Amino acid sequence: MKIAFVGKGGSGKTTLSSLFIRHLAAVGAPVIAIDADINQHLGPALGLDEAEAAALPAMGDRLPLIKDYLRGSNPRITSAGTMIKTTPPGEGSRLLRVRESNPVYDACARTVELDGGAVRLMVTGPFTDADLGVACYHSKTGAVELCLNHLVDGPDEYVVVDMTAGSDSFASGMFTRFDVTFLVAEPTRKGVSVYRQYKDYARDFGVELRVVGNKVQGQDDRDFLRAEVGDDLLVTVGHSNWVRAMEKGRPPRFDALEDTNRHALGLLRTVVDSAYERRDWERYTRQMVHFHLKNAQSWGNERTGADLAVQVDPGFVLGESVTASV
Ligand SMILES: Nc1ncnc2c1ncn2[C@@H]1O[C@H](COP(=O)(O)OP(=O)(O)O)[C@@H](O)[C@H]1O
Ligand SMILES: [Mg+2]
Repeated sequence: MKIAFVGKGGSGKTTLSSLFIRHLAAVGAPVIAIDADINQHLGPALGLDEAEAAALPAMGDRLPLIKDYLRGSNPRITSAGTMIKTTPPGEGSRLLRVRESNPVYDACARTVELDGGAVRLMVTGPFTDADLGVACYHSKTGAVELCLNHLVDGPDEYVVVDMTAGSDSFASGMFTRFDVTFLVAEPTRKGVSVYRQYKDYARDFGVELRVVGNKVQGQDDRDFLRAEVGDDLLVTVGHSNWVRAMEKGRPPRFDALEDTNRHALGLLRTVVDSAYERRDWERYTRQMVHFHLKNAQSWGNERTGADLAVQVDPGFVLGESVTASV
């Protein structure tokens, strides 16, 4: 299952991503955690110290390796140089599995030990101004999008992405790559306006969007969110002393998390797990092709000097039954 946490800066995306990752790890579920937020803070939120976080390999610096591996022997992709962030897999491409080991994880993932189990952490690396543009060839989140588009994940496997709700993810189609998108919103007009924007983009693509209210202080906050987002509001989370202690560098054991917050995380997991029934690999593949053609036309063809529409393998559908070609 692929899960995104999005929202305004400071709303609590990283905090809630990290809690959800800890929640999954605590029951021994296989998890890949990906930090694609502008402020790269997921490592520390998972308990890494400054030196450990600084030593994480940046996916953005390893794009050539990622592209070369994923392209495999796909005859439609003649070089890593013509592979852009939206280039879809086809016959001959190499796919990623959550539990396997492969050269992409070797280069980009690091194991983080949490209470109950370990997870793999991958980070895009710090963003520069160029990464925030719409037409960006070397985009850091492009590395994440390529991985998601080549990933075959099962119902009991989790990929959790801490992600910025920016124009880049709308242009590239990254916002359509998840089984569930949790929009973290504080009970403020700004928090809710990000929801509205997301909802607008999501509408045409069947994106399952659920709002998680954060820093909610009472009934008035809950009423505000309910009035603004209606039934999209899944649950609200209040101030957590557990989180505060963690931020002070004194992380309590995860089983000491407040009951209400544990309950909220359980609800998130229920929503994620039940989304599996609605998974549609054909639609997933169709959408990646749609965004690839759009990106090819708006900047990709020009940047690579090639017609990138030929990269689309018309007979290919990503899915759990696709066998690996190594
Ligand atoms: N429920 C919470 N309880 C306590 N502190 C929180 C909570 N949610 C967020 N915070 C704090 O608010 C700040 C911003 O949260 P963060 O997760 O980094 O936001 P974002 O990733 O959306 O920018 C952090 O210092 C974080 O510890
Ligand atoms: Mg963050």
